[in-house]
Amino acid sequence: MLKRTIGNTDWHPSAIILGNMRMGDQTVSQAIDVLNICNDTGINMIDSADIYAGGQSETILGKALKQGGFNRDTFFIQSKAGIQLGSKSMATFGKRYNFRKDYILQQVDAILDRLQIEYLDSFLLHRPDPLMEVTEVAEAFDYLYQSGKVRYFGVSNFSDYQIRWLQTNLNQPLYINQLQFGLMHTAMIDYGLNYNGHSQESLQQSGNMLEFALLNNITIQAWSPFQHGMIEGVFIDNPNYPIVNEMLTEIADKYHVDKNAIATAWILKHPAKMQVISGSMNPNRIQMIAKGATVHLTDQEWYDLYIATGNDLP
Ligand SMILES: NC(=O)c1ccc[n+]([C@@H]2O[C@H](COP(=O)([O-])OP(=O)(O)OC[C@H]3O[C@@H](n4cnc5c(N)ncnc54)[C@H](OP(=O)(O)O)[C@@H]3O)[C@@H](O)[C@H]2O)c1
Repeated sequence: MLKRTIGNTDWHPSAIILGNMRMGDQTVSQAIDVLNICNDTGINMIDSADIYAGGQSETILGKALKQGGFNRDTFFIQSKAGIQLGSKSMATFGKRYNFRKDYILQQVDAILDRLQIEYLDSFLLHRPDPLMEVTEVAEAFDYLYQSGKVRYFGVSNFSDYQIRWLQTNLNQPLYINQLQFGLMHTAMIDYGLNYNGHSQESLQQSGNMLEFALLNNITIQAWSPFQHGMIEGVFIDNPNYPIVNEMLTEIADKYHVDKNAIATAWILKHPAKMQVISGSMNPNRIQMIAKGATVHLTDQEWYDLYIATGNDLP
């Protein structure tokens, strides 16, 4: 399995990460099957968050790690916190972001309890909180680092300036930014290709992140790589996206892999050396996705796929 270096550390996890957002409705035995296939294919990092299935995804993962007989060092384990859900549902009042020191510390303790582990390899702030008081975050991170509960820190869905502001006030480096990215979510690429033009892409602010990450030793983790919209459904084999599916089939046939593997290879080819967080709970699919790490697309194939999703080049 292809490895990635996180930031400028000596930490080298797999380029593909297992996302556990959808583990909450699995049985422990199914989750063990997922972990076994990851282990077999060399996927040695897991991404989680306190809110996935209201904590149930982490409870199942914790049981699967234990009952499956996995050592603590079989997988690098990452989790996130900072999104506080309302008591009713995602869409009602009561939902907010919460970066208060006490809240962060309480959430990390709850994560460790559910996962039945002593420390996280990495901990990310899940989404930017406009009310963030950086000194409180700094105190929380100091405590988490010094107590040995967290090894490395990062963020998710942050802009370049949000990272800079937070980093200026922290004692620990931020090594990770987890962002939505994939063939159907290319805003970070579109911006760079349309800089100073007249198109909609030129006006978007989602650019700069790729270059910012490269300049500042930040590893981008691409979430929901096979989804269109914001987790609206899978674009692979979806009749609403015929052109990109035709192109994926053609290239997949050439490399003797499936379309998911090619969509994975497309992300991995970018010089920012991203990680791909795959959320499949299907062992066969995970095995096929892992093959994406062995495919080296040509530059032309990479551009052809970019254009096949409906993008144009200036
Ligand atoms: N930081 C953030 O804000 C954020 C937000 C969302 C997600 N994430 C992270 O990203 C991870 C991945 O997210 P995700 O699960 O949305 O990503 P995904 O890997 O793009 O989607 C996985 C889902 O797509 C299905 N799928 C994939 N390929 C398919 C195909 N060819 N045909 C039919 N179904 C297919 C899977 O079904 P099967 O299980 O049947 O294979 C699964 O339900 C999450 O687990 C989480 O760790 C982070």
